[in-house]
This record gives sequence, C-alpha cells and structure tokens, in this order.
Amino acid sequence: MRNKIFVARIIPDAGLQLLRQQFDVDVWQEFLPPNREAILSRVKGVVGLLSLLSDRIDAEVMDAAGPQLRGIANFAVGYNNIDVAAAVERGIAVGNTPDVLTDATADTAVGLVLAAARHFQASILQVRSLQWKTWEPMGLLGHDLNGKTLGIVGMGRIGAAVARKLVGGWGMRVVYTSRSPKPEIDHEFNTTQVSMDDLLAQSDVISLHTDLNEQTKHMIGDREFALMKPNAILVNTARGGVIDQVALYKALKSKSIFAAGLDVTDPEPLPNDSPLRELENCTILPHIGSATVEARDRMSVMAAQNLIAASAGQPIPFSVRRVLDPIANQIGQRFNAKFSHGSGSP
Ligand code: GLV
Repeated sequence: MRNKIFVARIIPDAGLQLLRQQFDVDVWQEFLPPNREAILSRVKGVVGLLSLLSDRIDAEVMDAAGPQLRGIANFAVGYNNIDVAAAVERGIAVGNTPDVLTDATADTAVGLVLAAARHFQASILQVRSLQWKTWEPMGLLGHDLNGKTLGIVGMGRIGAAVARKLVGGWGMRVVYTSRSPKPEIDHEFNTTQVSMDDLLAQSDVISLHTDLNEQTKHMIGDREFALMKPNAILVNTARGGVIDQVALYKALKSKSIFAAGLDVTDPEPLPNDSPLRELENCTILPHIGSATVEARDRMSVMAAQNLIAASAGQPIPFSVRRVLDPIANQIGQRFNAKFSHGSGSP
C-alpha cells in the first residue's frame, strides 16, 4: 500500500505529478480552503501534508494525522500558519518554498509603490465610473520616485530584490533594518543599517518584508505612523498582521501619510465592512505576491520534493530550519541551482 499525502488545494501539475509517482495523493478539490473539521479528518493517516498559508497547522492537526506524519510542506515562503515548535517536538519536518518567488513578490511590491505614488486606484475608479471629464493640470498629482529614499524593513531576499529594482530603475537611496548585520548589502547599496525610527523618519517609500511573529505583530502602529513623512508611501507584501490596520486607517484618512499599497491584510480577505477598502489612497491586492505561472510551478515542485524527502526520513531540501541545519541548506542550494533557470518542471 502506498503512503498517503493530503494536499490542501489544487496546485500546479508539476508538483502533483511528482507526488503521484509515489504516494496516494488526496487533493482538496474545492475553491475555498478546507475548514478545520475537514483538515482534521482528511489528514488522518497521512505521511505528508501540503498546506497553504491559509491553513492553520498546529499540534491538534499533527496529532489528528497520527504518529506516521513525517513532513509538512507549506506552499509559501512564509510559515506563520504552522506551529513549527510543535512539529519539531514530534519529529516532523517543516518545509517552505523560498527563492523561487522572490522576484515575483518583489515585482508586486514595486507595482504597489508605483500604484500608490501615482494614484492608480483613484484613477482607474474615475475612468470606470465615468467621472473622468478632462485632462487636469492639478488633479491626481502623485510623487516622483527618482532619487527619493527607500526604507526596507527586513532586508532578506525579497527586501533586497525590491531595493535592487528601485535603485536600478529609479535611483532611489536605500536605508534598511535587519535582524543581523548585512555587510554585503551595505556594500551593494552603499548604505548602512539604521534604527526603525530613523528609517520611518527618513523614508519616502517604506516596504515591509519581515516575518510575522510575536515581535513583529502590529510593529507599524500609531507611534510609527506619527514618525513617517507626510508624503510617505507604505507598501506591505509580507503579512497583514505586521500593520495595525486601525492605525493605518487613521493615518490614511487624515492624510498624515500619502498612500499605502497592500498585497496582504489581516484577515484575508478584509471583512465586508472594512473602511480600508473605501479609501482612495489605499490600493489593496488579493495577496498575489507570488502569483506567476513560473513561481507557482516551482513552488509546487519544491513542496513535493520536501514531502518526498521527509517521507523517506531524509533531510528535506527546503527546511524552514535550514539556517540551523547545514545539510538541508546544501541540498537546497543544489536544487535551486538546478531549477532556478529552468522551466520549473523536474
Ligand atoms: C506568500 O505570502 C508566501 O509566504 O509565500
């Protein structure tokens, strides 16, 4: 009998085919995610679980699966939906899909910067609602980006890719925060790490690229908005929970900052009566950061590779603990070298 895998949504074929070669694969077929009850029942007896960022995977899910569960592969680079400590306690490997979505997500952030700086949302609405009457010398005025200051909060892979694009395209000056010293970044962007308060006070564009955890939840709140420039643009392609949305609403409504561009909110989607959706200076996308054919194909292959390795009791190639796990890191680097310029198919 083949081992069982539960895949919590239909994902690209490249990954599903790999899984089907060796497992009995149960794929959730519905458009909306499985609810709690469905997850708890469908994971019973699986060796591997392929989860999405909208699925909360905690100790209860792991225990419902049973002691044969060897790996959880998140179809995302972020993994705040998974209780990694509970997995480690149970000897379950947890993997994610880094690198292959860096460019796609950075492109989304750059798109949001442009949309926010130049009023794309209000402009599109005017055209659609037939309110646009004439070329206006003083209407819909945005801000130039050339030579302005870009603040990257969380200078990891995606933050650095955003900086590269905005420096290369618009000659922006970069300041950043990071958990660790980044001499190569200082050198590349001729800059240096600054405190969060300095970043907020100096930046014309602030782009968030930090994990969501207890330290970063609501890290951008009333106090932080008060430190920003009146022309500041805030872009979030990380996780919605990093911003206190009540404070964001106040800052946008009172125009104490210029605009925001959000690919992520808390919750997703926003409640029907969320006032954020009504603001002309707030562009909101439905979490499409990694939504390119190429990125999603590669993510599906990586998630499959993680489950294949985990079920064989081997170190998984894309472990969320790879910083702590040098063997997994080496395997991941070899895999990336092989797939990063290819079609994403094995
Ligand atoms: C998407 O948000 C991801 O974490 O991959």
